[in-house]
Amino acid sequence: MSNWWKKAVVYQIYPRSFKDSNGDGYGDLNGIIEKLDYLKKLGIDVIWISPVYESPQDDNGYDISDYRKIYEKFGTNADMENLIEEAHNRDIKIVMDLVANHTSDEHFWFEESKKSKDNPYSNYYFWLDPKADGSEPNNWGSSFCGSAWEYSKERNQYYLHYYTKKQPDLNWENPKVRQEVYDLMKFWMDKGVDGWRMDVIASISKYTDFPDYPERPGEKYIKGFMHANGPRLHEYLKEMNREVLSKYDCMTVGEAPGSDSENARLFVDPERKELNMIITFEHMNIDRIPNSPNKKWALKDFDLIELKRILSNWQTKLLNYGWNALYFENHDQPRIISRWGNDTNYRKECAKAFATILHGMQGTPYIYQGEEIGMVNAHYKLKEYDDVEIHNAYKELVEKDKSISEEDFMAAVWNKSRDNGRTPMQWDSSENAGFTTGNPWIKVNPRYTEINVAEELEDENSIFYYYQKLIKLRHEEEILTEGSFKLYLTEDPSLYVYEREFKGEKWLVVGNFSEEEIEIDSLKPYFYEKWESVINNYGEVRDNMPLRPYEAFIIKKIK
Ligand code: NOJ
Repeated sequence: MSNWWKKAVVYQIYPRSFKDSNGDGYGDLNGIIEKLDYLKKLGIDVIWISPVYESPQDDNGYDISDYRKIYEKFGTNADMENLIEEAHNRDIKIVMDLVANHTSDEHFWFEESKKSKDNPYSNYYFWLDPKADGSEPNNWGSSFCGSAWEYSKERNQYYLHYYTKKQPDLNWENPKVRQEVYDLMKFWMDKGVDGWRMDVIASISKYTDFPDYPERPGEKYIKGFMHANGPRLHEYLKEMNREVLSKYDCMTVGEAPGSDSENARLFVDPERKELNMIITFEHMNIDRIPNSPNKKWALKDFDLIELKRILSNWQTKLLNYGWNALYFENHDQPRIISRWGNDTNYRKECAKAFATILHGMQGTPYIYQGEEIGMVNAHYKLKEYDDVEIHNAYKELVEKDKSISEEDFMAAVWNKSRDNGRTPMQWDSSENAGFTTGNPWIKVNPRYTEINVAEELEDENSIFYYYQKLIKLRHEEEILTEGSFKLYLTEDPSLYVYEREFKGEKWLVVGNFSEEEIEIDSLKPYFYEKWESVINNYGEVRDNMPLRPYEAFIIKKIK
């Protein structure tokens, strides 16, 4: 099998927000086809497309009711086949989202399963008896607040759901369930799909004795280490690899909450024949207070030293033992420049600085739709948000528990909520940003007249063209894919500096993540005597001059 994904750059599409081709306010597959030439111009190699299957959309498609059918608002199966073909015609690969930790409660398997304790689907999910007092089997919490168990009268039992109660967890202990998953993977791969992004794959194996978590103050239901990395996880991944993945020249990236750079190798060491790379959360969690009852809404200041420590750890631990997935944004994360940078007076410089640091590392870089034009967070009223995560958290934490004030909660929503990344793609300055001629399912970010694709394509110094250049470097320069990694200035709170080295060649990657000018002194020892600029975000790299706000560049040593 070739390792084509090592030189690839992935672009993630969140279909409902990308491009609407028929005016119903939802993005769709034909909309994606319309924009393939735009993506080709950017230069990406792979599109990862978030779930497009039949779904009641309780969690925007991460609740699937038919894995073999395209959701009608997105189009038809024929449209999907057409998209695969059109992408392939342009040498772009298609990776689909495999959501197999759970299904929708409207999936046929669940509808059957809940009918009785002894039907052919009864063990497709986790069903447990209530405790003697009728309460939930244990104190496990859902990721979206509340208990992870929902009572069902028909069976007089509780079923497990790590996400909403409309997303029951599949029982991977049951070999029939595993076979169903492998079959649906083959169904799409035989149609030409080139790989999988695997939703919360680290959670598919459960601790089937379902022990309680140790109590935590202020929390009735807890979500913690037992929600991931269960005892049979790697056995299942090996089986999936044997049964399906090894038969195709494909790419796999598993979403692995709860993983760190130590256990990452278990997933991605090629010798183990499991996955190619995993999506970690370690670096994304640095701005949250750990173990707070207010979960991700308990904000902590951004800390560059911590970010550098975590990402560098992954770089060094996986060098020669696996492969990194490099990302700052996706449909579950806010816009990085609003979250950790400056999205007003240094918006462009800042977007390019984050891109430089990320794309300079070893791994496969992921660009989330809109990141390449510097899209920013939304600042809406509560009722203008759509995400079930926001509304569940509001009810539970603000209204019921009163563990966070309304004011602090809204500040966290503006900073961290998933809908920040889910507002419609901004194509131009026409009404609704050129996303739809109808009513968009969620409000367009009002800054679309200033931030949009049409503007970016007009300006040769745009963020778009900067990404285009970074992608080209990834394709052409082996040092980016193969080179070693060394972090400098580990304790510097503003400067991100590291070096890549390959076959005697050396590149220095530098970013100033502050709004201040920074004297060059601390950086000087690492500057090469003779060098040339590979890429930079201020039009030139200056020797012996202070670094400007959000200045970033890569320089190359000349012998
Ligand atoms: C992770 C997905 O990325 C997220 O959007 C979803 O809500 C959960 N998994 C549940 O499927």
